[in-house]
Amino acid sequence: MISWILLLLILSSCLCATFVVNVTQSSYEAEENHSITLEWTFTTRTQGSYRELFIHCSLLAPHKELVLYHVSEGVEFPDSQDEQFSGRVQIDKDVLREGRIRLHVSRLRTEDSGLYLCVVKTEDGVGSEICRLKVLGEI
Ligand SMILES: *[C@@H]1O[C@H](CO)[C@@H](O)[C@H](O)[C@H]1NC(C)=O
Ligand SMILES: *[C@@H]1O[C@H](CO)[C@@H](O)[C@H](O)[C@H]1NC(C)=O
Repeated sequence: MISWILLLLILSSCLCATFVVNVTQSSYEAEENHSITLEWTFTTRTQGSYRELFIHCSLLAPHKELVLYHVSEGVEFPDSQDEQFSGRVQIDKDVLREGRIRLHVSRLRTEDSGLYLCVVKTEDGVGSEICRLKVLGEI
């Protein structure tokens, strides 16, 4: 699974066209058991919406990636979500149409710390961006 993500990353660096994915914040800090909203933005069309929307958001853990949210051809695949995030991730569907991926992660655990990657692919191009989350446990 890692390999095709890398492939998408390589592709995205070549398609230096008009399609971009941004993070609104590059790093977040939150306390264990609290919640956080991670946010990415991507280029939307001035007219109409995307027919082929692919979104893949995951936590890049050492030697594996844990999927938080996956959309293929505009359809959500909740089954692909890693059990670490089961029942703890909510997506704001209203703002998704405006090109905003807002992932609300609740009941944070220290093992949720790490790099979060979202890859977005549409008929206009592909892009990805990473943000960092640090979950602070009890001192
Ligand atoms: C991405 O960031 C750039 C630079 O800050 C900005 O010009 C652009 O409008 C942003 N695009 C989206 C879709 O957020
Ligand atoms: C989070 O919740 C767990 C289980 O209720 C508890 O053991 C832990 O101390 C809490 N952590 C913090 C930082 O409050």
